[in-house]
Amino acid sequence: ETRRHRVQVLGPHQVDAAAETLRGGGLLAFPTETVYGLGADATNGEAVARIFAAKGRPSFNPLIVHVVDIAAAEEFAMFDAAARDLAMHFWPGPLTLVLPLRKGHRLSPLVTAGLDTVAVRVPASPLARDLLAAVGGPVAAPSANPSGRVSATRAAHVVDGLGDRIDGVLDGGPCAVGLESTILRATPLALLREGGLAAEEIKALLGRTLPRDVTPGKVQAPGQLSSHYAPGRPVRMGVTVADPTAVLLGFGDIAGDLNLSPTGDMVEAAANLFDHFHAIDALAASLGKVRIDVAPVPETGLGRAINDRLRRAAAPRP
Ligand code: TXA
Ligand code: MG
Repeated sequence: ETRRHRVQVLGPHQVDAAAETLRGGGLLAFPTETVYGLGADATNGEAVARIFAAKGRPSFNPLIVHVVDIAAAEEFAMFDAAARDLAMHFWPGPLTLVLPLRKGHRLSPLVTAGLDTVAVRVPASPLARDLLAAVGGPVAAPSANPSGRVSATRAAHVVDGLGDRIDGVLDGGPCAVGLESTILRATPLALLREGGLAAEEIKALLGRTLPRDVTPGKVQAPGQLSSHYAPGRPVRMGVTVADPTAVLLGFGDIAGDLNLSPTGDMVEAAANLFDHFHAIDALAASLGKVRIDVAPVPETGLGRAINDRLRRAAAPRP
């Protein structure tokens, strides 16, 4: 048994053991419908600190707090009427709301990085919901990948990336959505990160356009850093003809070595994106190719979040 694979992989029938790991201050990766999260008890400062150590995050960025329902969120966050509408309509689901912290909350200050707001999400994955119910408290969780790398959409990705640094992985199979949640600040309303819930759906509910918060120099979310979601080799977007030095990640009619969705279905492409990043990187390594080319993806619906991740993967590395 190698040190790398020391981590305990738990099956869906072992939710109680998984919850026990979290309650005991351990680090447990768990599936959500978006991506796998690296969870810790959000009220336990030492457990939360170990998340940053395990991911190798350069700084203490604020984390998303996962809860089972709105009532659980209200213990530490405050909802105005608009936030409540959004939560009632889109939770459980791939939407994270940034809300004002409630006085007297018990979250570790590391979770919010000292901000007076908190990012909250109620995931839809049944296994995540069972886990959160069994824990009975808030679970802080960033995506379960080493800092700057591609997010994990399968338990095997988590084992590969973090297997020697965490206590367990709850294996729920591949993630249905495959893109991180959309992050929305409630007041003043702003889209902080495109993600698994298309902005069109939020606009339709609110009946107004969504301003984007792109205040220069003020990084709201590491997802806003230019180089992020990086596979092991350079990425080039908008490629229609395969280059002999590269592997090609296809979309629709542009077949490629691997295809995000041969029928051009955005939901399928989103669900495949990170999994195909992991797979095509391995393929490039085995074929001795130096770059990953990606076919054009239309800028509509989930295509905007997909292109956002592709642009960050293609950005110059620090
Ligand atoms: O789908 C997801 O959102 C996944 C799953 C596991 O829930 N989580 C995820 O976490 O993508 P992470 O840490 O990779 O991204 C969370 C983002 C970060 O970019 C962080 O800066 C932002 O949320 N964030 C957290 N609290 C915030 C706050 N109070 N204000 C603004 N942004 C915040
Ligand atoms: Mg992440």
